[in-house]
Amino acid sequence: MNARLKPYKAVIFDLDGVITDTARYHYLAWKRLAETQGVHFDEAFNEHLKGIDRMGSLELILASSPRAYTVEQKLALADEKNRHYVELISTMSPSDLLPGAVQALDACRAAGLKIGLASVSKNAFAVLDMLGITGKFDYVVDAAKIAKGKPDPEIFLKAASELGVSPADCLGVEDAVAGVASIKAAGMTALGIGDPAVLTQADSVIPGLDHFTETP
Ligand code: BG6
Ligand code: MG
Repeated sequence: MNARLKPYKAVIFDLDGVITDTARYHYLAWKRLAETQGVHFDEAFNEHLKGIDRMGSLELILASSPRAYTVEQKLALADEKNRHYVELISTMSPSDLLPGAVQALDACRAAGLKIGLASVSKNAFAVLDMLGITGKFDYVVDAAKIAKGKPDPEIFLKAASELGVSPADCLGVEDAVAGVASIKAAGMTALGIGDPAVLTQADSVIPGLDHFTETP
């Protein structure tokens, strides 16, 4: 078995920014929405939104606005952002899988590990279908199955419990600070995807899933 996978019985992947570059589309859609509200929005601010659910992200953006918003106005803004996001992802296909994503999933399968997906996105199943990889997961936890988003551990704990594996035997894979925090709070090992200077809580960090099967 691959040395990275040896200590584990399950691997639980995040979706946006790990398996496919939808993190970019979330960024673009939030940026446009923020600017309609006169809120400055850049990559550095976006880093705090990665892994955070839709309404939580909106609250963080509107916190920089002097305006007060009613619940109805907030729901309308969240819908507007999602309409733009759905438009941006509407042409996605298997060619939008990030390099190494399918190989990483197949390596887990070949090693006999359970494979989970933990995404707070309400669009997760649609994205998996467009990528053609829904069948590669033993269990998918999306926004509909949890009460608390990342960094709460609920989503990774739910995935582990549905997979029938103890959290200590799970490797979680995440590109977001909030996601890594969720994995660690669940008592799992965290593999970060991205920059080690950003994902400081991760046990190890690789630039992308094309490095997944390298010996840690
Ligand atoms: C996460 C993304 O996976 O899903 C966040 O990292 C996003 O950026 C969140 O806000 C919620 O997504 P959606 O599709 O439900 O708006
Ligand atoms: Mg992510």
